Amino acid sequence: MSKRSIPPTNNFCPQTLFLYGTYKEDNTPNFGLFCWFSYYWDTEMGVMMCIGGDKLTRDRIRQTRIFSANLVTQQMLPLADYLGNTNGYDDAKMNFELETQKGSVLNVPTLACSPVVFELEVAQSYPCEEGEVFLCKVRNVLMEECLLDTDKSVEERIRQIAPIHTTCSTYFSWEGQSLGKWGSPKETFEPVKKTL
Ligand SMILES: Cc1cc2nc3c(=O)[nH]c(=O)nc-3n(C[C@H](O)[C@H](O)[C@H](O)COP(=O)(O)O)c2cc1C
Repeated sequence: MSKRSIPPTNNFCPQTLFLYGTYKEDNTPNFGLFCWFSYYWDTEMGVMMCIGGDKLTRDRIRQTRIFSANLVTQQMLPLADYLGNTNGYDDAKMNFELETQKGSVLNVPTLACSPVVFELEVAQSYPCEEGEVFLCKVRNVLMEECLLDTDKSVEERIRQIAPIHTTCSTYFSWEGQSLGKWGSPKETFEPVKKTL
């Protein structure tokens, strides 16, 4: 293989996507889409993540120190892409029907459609120039029953939920097919508007 030096990039290093859920000041849920998410070890497994600038999700995490991280699957992609391309400071963002439940351990909104949900509490945070790095304690994991069926292989179980991976500003199916550039699946999102 012959390699070339190029400017910093994480192209061709796939990431997993999560929707972070927080309650707004009026106690209604808000969700944003995030990929700067991974794990660390410090006597137990923790979650490390970065929020790269001002946004409602960061304001709410700073305020409450708790949030949910909901794994994004192929079925959720139009919704996730909409939530990642719509600003939470716009009051109309969450004005559609969405099935959410309060976490089992923390007072955070979770998505009924996501098969794996972390309930997270910030342990430490590091404000940088613009972004902020958070180290979080995992207070609970909510996992869909079908993933706990050990009679099925891990391959069968993960195929059932088909998590999205992303790189090069492009979404990929679990099987590796392109599902479009960031900002395109939201075109097929069909929200049912909330009625008063
Ligand atoms: C695929 C994708 C991944 C994203 N990942 C991140 C991320 O890891 N960190 C971040 O700060 N913003 C990320 N964003 C941008 C946020 O989703 C966006 O700012 C959104 O408006 C946040 O929701 P909020 O405004 O309700 O807080 C991502 C957007 C997309 C489309």
